[in-house]
Amino acid sequence: MIYNSVLDAIGNTPIVRLNRVAVNSAANFYAKLEFINPGGSIKDRIGFWMIEDAERNGRLKPGGTIIEGTSGNTGVGLAMAAAIKGYQCVFILPDKMSQEKIKNLRSFGARVVVTPTAVEPDDPRSYYSVSRRLAQEIPNSLYIDQYNNLSNREYHYQHTAPEILEQMPEIDVLVAGIGTGGTITGCGKYLKEKKSGVEIVAVDPIGSIVYEVFKTGENKTPAEGYLIEGIGEDFIPDNYDFAQIDDMVQVGDKESFLMTRELLTSEGIYSGVSSGGAVVGALKWVKQQGKRLHGKNVLVIFPDSGNRYSSKVYDDDWMREVGFLESKTGNAGDLMRALNKKPDALIMANQSDPISMVISQLSEAGVSQMPVQDEKGWIKGIVRESVILKSLFHQQANLEDPIDDLVDTSVEYVTVADSIERISKLVTEGKVPLVTDPEDGDKLLGIITDIDLLNFLGSRH
Ligand SMILES: Cc1ncc(COP(=O)(O)O)c(C=O)c1O
Repeated sequence: MIYNSVLDAIGNTPIVRLNRVAVNSAANFYAKLEFINPGGSIKDRIGFWMIEDAERNGRLKPGGTIIEGTSGNTGVGLAMAAAIKGYQCVFILPDKMSQEKIKNLRSFGARVVVTPTAVEPDDPRSYYSVSRRLAQEIPNSLYIDQYNNLSNREYHYQHTAPEILEQMPEIDVLVAGIGTGGTITGCGKYLKEKKSGVEIVAVDPIGSIVYEVFKTGENKTPAEGYLIEGIGEDFIPDNYDFAQIDDMVQVGDKESFLMTRELLTSEGIYSGVSSGGAVVGALKWVKQQGKRLHGKNVLVIFPDSGNRYSSKVYDDDWMREVGFLESKTGNAGDLMRALNKKPDALIMANQSDPISMVISQLSEAGVSQMPVQDEKGWIKGIVRESVILKSLFHQQANLEDPIDDLVDTSVEYVTVADSIERISKLVTEGKVPLVTDPEDGDKLLGIITDIDLLNFLGSRH
């Protein structure tokens, strides 16, 4: 079969049986390998489709600029179609995205704007807000908006789902991660219409708000950061239709990253982390159902490939830094024990203590920095000898002033289980790790300084 352009090569991705990772499950597991698409992900499908939809209804004119807030894959899908059709592209990405994804988009000639992750969606710096603003500023431009553009789910309804049913008429359960919601909603609607009894299960990462909204109808818990890319949200996009979803499962970062590696080593499938997450979710959900699913066929969508994440999930050092792989050198608890750092020995200043008092405390204890607590006893940050000296020397502070203004708040709570690799990374970034023990009511055990790390590493040789 010879296609007219790369766009015609989108779709008809293979389904393969998972032979090892699901060996203990009651059901048969299959993976639909969406990274076989020419741009490397499921988003190739909606990229050209949303552009053609905008052309059809006159929202996109020749020579125009396509703007999108995208985690990378949709960008590639759009850039590929734009290259063929002669449009410019501007992509807005949150800063947690991998460098590979950003470089990939730039190599298509697209402009990439990186925005902070840790802001609310309605904050003017958020990637949703920046996308909308650029769409207003750039003439003859179109904000594609894969989240609220219903042609996203329409594509999956008209194309992905019929393809699935044709390839696998005996499907019983479809499992997919939920991001924009296009895949699961579009496929779910079609499969439910055509095959009664098919169950649709969405997978959402812990930290996203979607699971809570699905289960309770409201969102009380604020969204929190997580590392799986491409799935989970901090708002509910228009492409969602919970009526098409029978159930939802939550997955954690660590189990999803580990499963992604296992898919490669035991099935030879080089997939992205949302695929690993979807498999973890599918296995958990099938297990929860008990015997009911014995011998049933579960299809899991694998949205993209591992090559976009080689510096993360397939990098052992990175995996150790985030604590997903066992450390080679030990953890914070090992260091505290080896250096005999005891919580009772931890001296602390109050934010209202005068600088003179803090200086005597530091010199009595023979330390160069110490934590400072506020009136409620919460750790506010730390104060360093060098900072006190500098501000006294430059007459920016007096000995009787409270220590409050000199407190460095770049502290980071870690636990005894955090790896030395992670602690070293924090220290080299200028942060101060405060070690707590979750088994002892999150009691603060102490701080780790660069000298502590050197002493600990030295003692191991
Ligand atoms: C890697 C990855 N996995 C899963 C998804 C989720 O698919 P959907 O947006 O159709 O819900 C996306 C979407 O951004 C993705 O990029």
